[in-house]
Amino acid sequence: MLEGKTIVVTGVASGIGAETARTLRTMGASVVGVDRVTPTHGDCHTFHEADLSDPRAIDRLVDALPSGLNGLCNIAGLPPTAPPAFVLKVNALGLRQLTLSLIHKFANGASIVNLASLAGLDWAKSLTEIEAFHDVGFDDVDAFCERFDIHGARSYFFSKEYLIAWTYANRWTWRARNIRMNCVSPGPVETPILKDFIATLGARVEEDMKIMDRSATPADIAPVVAFLQTDGARWFRGANLTADGGMSSHIALARLGL
Ligand code: NAI
Repeated sequence: MLEGKTIVVTGVASGIGAETARTLRTMGASVVGVDRVTPTHGDCHTFHEADLSDPRAIDRLVDALPSGLNGLCNIAGLPPTAPPAFVLKVNALGLRQLTLSLIHKFANGASIVNLASLAGLDWAKSLTEIEAFHDVGFDDVDAFCERFDIHGARSYFFSKEYLIAWTYANRWTWRARNIRMNCVSPGPVETPILKDFIATLGARVEEDMKIMDRSATPADIAPVVAFLQTDGARWFRGANLTADGGMSSHIALARLGL
């Protein structure tokens, strides 16, 4: 289904990124992996080591990537236990810089998929911060966190709120070239950072997880990302697919008392 397509996957060394590389490769794509850590699996056709918290490293990465790319899966991310400024740099700023810098290297019809989270679903409550973040650069992140009191786990929630809002905002940005952007929002997924979520959010996550029969595995999420890379997903633009076993609809109904 993806024969002839060259797709960049960030966060390819672990968890959802590693499984996405495997899935895309199985579907026939040529996978260009990106991570700050060299993967131990062999599912990337080429691999580029890059720290996505560093704008100069992103520039070097963009220079090294080929033209004619058919897709980008922005999956690299830091958990809420990481320092807030780093979380915003990797999960939002680095992702934004990489994506915007690659537009000229995309073939027409390319698909951009951002890995968001259920943590971002309340984005509409943070419109002031989201608006302000549009103009924030790498050197302004500490001041932004101070100004909007973004500390601890809030950095993770805000990074995902911004990502969903940014995906919606870009529903038609590259419409003339048929380049589309969508995001996928999982609930808890069994990867090395799940323990960080539980450590930071504690009872809240455990309470939410009790309503589920199980957590997701990367194999539950990667096919959704891969689907958005196929031509069959061409009418998805600015969509947020919640891949969460029903958790978000349950929470939405519970909030309404239903
Ligand atoms: P993971 O820790 O297994 O994988 C994250 C990958 O990102 C790692 O390979 C890591 O080296 C890479 N990475 C981190 N910082 C980087 C940097 N500065 N430069 C380059 N690469 C960097 O975690 P997982 O769970 O696979 O996470 C993937 C995405 O899924 C993240 O964006 C995360 O926020 C999101 N997500 C995860 C959930 C979960 O419960 N595991 C739930 C919802 C969303």
